[in-house]
Amino acid sequence: MNRRVFSQILAFGAGLFGAQARAGEGESKKSPMSSPAAPIPAQPDGYATAIDPAPVTVNDFIARAKAKLPPATFEYVTSGSEDEVTLRDNVEAFHRIKLLPPLLHGVSEADLSTTVLGQKIALPVLLAPVAGLRLYHPEGALASARASARAGTIFAASTSAFHSIEQIAEASEGPKWFQLYVPKDRAIALQMVRRAEAAGYKAIVVTVDLGERKDADLRNKFSVPRDILLQHLRDVGHKELQDNISYEDLTAFNLGCWAPSLSWEFFEWLRGQTKLPIVLKGVMTTEAARKAVQLGLNGIVVSNHGGRRIDTLPASIDVLRDCVDAAQDKIEVILDSGVRRGIDVVKAIALGAKAVMIGRPHAWALAAGGEAGVKRVLDIFRDELTNSMIACGCPSVDKITSEILKQ
Ligand SMILES: Cc1cc2nc3c(=O)[nH]c(=O)nc-3n(C[C@H](O)[C@H](O)[C@H](O)COP(=O)(O)O)c2cc1C
Repeated sequence: MNRRVFSQILAFGAGLFGAQARAGEGESKKSPMSSPAAPIPAQPDGYATAIDPAPVTVNDFIARAKAKLPPATFEYVTSGSEDEVTLRDNVEAFHRIKLLPPLLHGVSEADLSTTVLGQKIALPVLLAPVAGLRLYHPEGALASARASARAGTIFAASTSAFHSIEQIAEASEGPKWFQLYVPKDRAIALQMVRRAEAAGYKAIVVTVDLGERKDADLRNKFSVPRDILLQHLRDVGHKELQDNISYEDLTAFNLGCWAPSLSWEFFEWLRGQTKLPIVLKGVMTTEAARKAVQLGLNGIVVSNHGGRRIDTLPASIDVLRDCVDAAQDKIEVILDSGVRRGIDVVKAIALGAKAVMIGRPHAWALAAGGEAGVKRVLDIFRDELTNSMIACGCPSVDKITSEILKQ
């Protein structure tokens, strides 16, 4: 299926859905999302077919992303490290958690709004930082920033999104966090933090689970195109890089400029440098959660990086409750890894998360349909979450408690 035909199908399906959406969501009348439905083609036997090819679940985006992306890029997004034990467990662990909410609770509406780090948002589902967004769709992070703004949620922009801090900031008025991969050079790190402050980002997310090694990427010899990598390193702050640098030298430079090992000292330093909230991403232990509190950080993301780092780490949802207990309500806890359904969001919040982040669903949807795709995946989460909250008798996010879980 060619790109244009698929975009039309996506827009068609989303348009149908948009017609049922609540008022005030800001869907532009001119947007392809709300274009009039095409007539249903008649079958040879005279019966109309009602097959609707629009994505209705998050997983529906996988085949659509696969059809759009070069195979190596699709596998880069979708695969996990080594034997993919953690990748699978992240999803399966949500399935193992059972709900047992009360009946006859009299709830018929759900308010999905909440606050994260003091920011009011319409939906407790944030876009996780994802590297390489520009490789999945030409509009990349700009499309994600616009879609998240329209959905009323936060976009966490990766250091390696491949649009600059400023370009992403200008793409939308919506709230954004800047995710920092820590460079070896502290001056470069500080420059990025200052640029994020100046551009209006609301928090710095520092990712500390490093070392991606995925069989699929090795087999495919997955690599970032030269011009994009050169532009990225210049955007990070390495303006000294010359146009005529060889690809070999460029990749060696890239490997050499990030700090492969980090210690808590970095956070003591960073805390002294910025007043923006600092969120530590990649927490899986109570010890790390306690340390984040001690160091005056503002939040943690309980995450195993979507099973892209050390394989056989536990599912992040399985360590959430312990990390929440260790945070002692002093800092906010966000969860990612394996969130695919509105019901997963309910479970994470019931176990103490303030909100969740989505990584692959964000990337698949971007590849499938750019801004409209990302908006659509957030709409799916919104609709599934609304349904789950009502069914569980939770009229608002703060009413989602562990009482709805089968103990
Ligand atoms: C293609 C891809 C690239 C990623 N790049 C980053 C990144 O640049 N920074 C970061 O902190 N996390 C990155 N992550 C991890 C996500 O932020 C998130 O932790 C993870 O995807 C959550 O798991 P999920 O994909 O099951 O939702 C990436 C994930 C994917 C799928």
